[in-house]
Order: sequence, then C-alpha cells, then structure tokens
Amino acid sequence: MSKIKKFIAKKNKSKIVSLTAYSKNIASILDNYCDLILVGDSLGSVLYNFTTTRKVTLNMMIEHAKSVRLGVSKSLMVVDMPYNTYRSKSEALKNCKKVMKETKCDGVKLEGGLRIKEIVKHLIKNKIPVLGHLGITPQTVRGKFKSKGKSVRERNRLLSDAELLEKSGAFAIVLECVKSDLSKEITRKVTIPTIGIGSSNNCDGQILVTDDILGLTQSKIKFVKKYIDLRRYIREGISKFAKEVKNKKYPSKKYSY
Ligand code: KIV
Repeated sequence: MSKIKKFIAKKNKSKIVSLTAYSKNIASILDNYCDLILVGDSLGSVLYNFTTTRKVTLNMMIEHAKSVRLGVSKSLMVVDMPYNTYRSKSEALKNCKKVMKETKCDGVKLEGGLRIKEIVKHLIKNKIPVLGHLGITPQTVRGKFKSKGKSVRERNRLLSDAELLEKSGAFAIVLECVKSDLSKEITRKVTIPTIGIGSSNNCDGQILVTDDILGLTQSKIKFVKKYIDLRRYIREGISKFAKEVKNKKYPSKKYSY
C-alpha cells in the first residue's frame, strides 16, 4: 500500500497526529510521533515576523523543506504551496513539480475549495498528492480571523467545498477554525481524513504549529495549548553557558585540544 493510502486508511481507526516543522532537528523528533509533518507557510510569521503568509516565497518553502526532509523518514511530509504559486493549472503543476522534485516531499497543501477544484484535479492527474485546507485560509483571509460555519450559507459552502476536494482527489483536508458541529458533519460526510486546527476533536486528526505548543512563540490563540515552556529551558542553558564563559570556566581542559 502506498504511503498516502496508508494515511487515508487511518480514518476511523486511529486519530491522526500532525505538527509543523521548518528544519531538520525538530523534524527528526516529530518523526517518531507524527503521522504527518507539514512544512507550513506559517513559517512566515513564526520565523520571519511577517504579518501575512502572502510574503512567503516558493524558494523559502523549498529551502526549509529540504532541511525538514533530512529529519523525516517515517511520517508523511507535506509542503505548503505559498500564495500566488497555484493560480492556474499550469502554474500549479510547474511549481508543485519543482517542490516535489527538490524537496522529495510526499505531497503539497493548497488552500481553497471550489476555486481550486480544477487545479487539484490537474495535480492529481499528474501524480501530485494534494492535502486540502478549508475554513480559515490565511492566504486569502480578509480582516480578523473568525471561526467558520456560523451562517447556513457558510456551512453549506464549506460542506460542498469539502466534498469537491474529496471528489477532485485530495487525500485529506485541514479544517481551520471550523465550528465543532460542522467539523463533525464534514468528517462524517467525506471518506478522506479531516485534520483539525481549532476545529474540535470531531476531526480525524489534529495539527498545530510546533513552535506554539513548545512555548517558543507567545501565541495567545484560543485553540493553542502550550505543552512545555521551552523558552525557559533554553534560557537556563544559555545563561549557564554565558556565565561559564564570563567566569572562564568554559572551556576547561576537558573541552580543549
Ligand atoms: O501554515 C501552517 O502551518 C498551516 C497549518 C498550521 C495548518 O497551514
């Protein structure tokens, strides 16, 4: 069975664990726990302080993904296609092929539903596995980030977008900030896994930004749970090193040639 088929087969069997990675060292740790590792364009805000993911370039994604690849051997590795890199079938195919070839990833993630339906079909036809992304889609969001699925119109659109993505061949769908009952309905309706971020435990799996759960960022987002305060541990180590250098304790003979 292909890696993608094995991934899809997890639906209704075991919850899918997913996290983001932007470089090798973190990726190699995640690889032991995650079903899917995403090189997300969230790296724009997390690493580069961009206020929008729209500023992330294809080359940035490729360089970070190459590093992540070095740490991933078991999980499915997916790379986010940045804004304005998949506006037409030909543009998407050219750029996705480049990402797949240069990073050796297992698939790409695209934001949108109806708008990208034909593009997704074209990529699948050309053997490029696609992970969909619905709900809040940061590349096209206007104004404040608000949860999705409050009005009947929005609910119907999201449901139909999810079904369209499935029909077009996407192997799974990220649901970002989708109301709990709508996530449940979408998850029940589609046969591919749904991976929630701020979309309740009704989804088949969960994804979060690793830097957020490790306490490396100072995220105040409602759905982010901080599992460890890594900044504190890093501070402790760095201050010990700094002190030893100042006191001439490091490097001792043991650490010198
Ligand atoms: O860019 C990203 O990291 C994402 C997820 C967190 C879903 O799209």
